[in-house]
Amino acid sequence: KTMENKQHQIELTTQFVKSFHQNEATGHDWFHINRVNNLAKKISKKEGGDLFKIELIALLHDVADHKLNDGDEKIGLKNVEDFLLSINIEGNLIKDILSNIENISFKGAEVLQKELSLEGMIVQDADRIDAIGAIGIARTFAYGGNKNRMIYDPQSKPEMHTDFGKYKNNTAPTIDHFYEKLLLLKDRLNTSSAKEIAEQRHQFMEIFLTQFYKEWNCD
Ligand code: NI
Repeated sequence: KTMENKQHQIELTTQFVKSFHQNEATGHDWFHINRVNNLAKKISKKEGGDLFKIELIALLHDVADHKLNDGDEKIGLKNVEDFLLSINIEGNLIKDILSNIENISFKGAEVLQKELSLEGMIVQDADRIDAIGAIGIARTFAYGGNKNRMIYDPQSKPEMHTDFGKYKNNTAPTIDHFYEKLLLLKDRLNTSSAKEIAEQRHQFMEIFLTQFYKEWNCD
């Protein structure tokens, strides 16, 4: 395919994704997708990978997310497949994109990670970096509020989920989510470039939690 053709396919994908994520209030808005795409491209400068594939995976990575499809990823994956067919992406690449998208998202602290391609690993790292730090904190509380979760309940204990079903249906207070996912992410990144970016964002969350408990105790 010519450069021009690929550029056009990226533009059509951007339009599709922008309208899919429009007015999203759980932290999965277009700006999240755009940051993940930019972070993935930045990581790929050192780590390599096929840029066209990276960009397609990054742009489409949340269209099939269970959180945006009433808990059903299958509907979302079909939606992505139909879209990719409509812009003439070839069969093998569609298969590859779908299998990466399906396995990028976090499915519980103790749930086994399925294999990703290099491009998928880079997008997963970018998505995880956007889930931590100041942005990660803001997105987590937006998500919790949208799902009517409490901010914090000292009696609630974080749970290391062994099962995706339990993980996605849990209703624990938002602070628990730091221990069930966010603080685990820096040690679950695929590339050294991502680990480097994550370090400072991770520290910022620890500072946030220390301050949070201090204020909680009126200290
Ligand atoms: Ni995402």
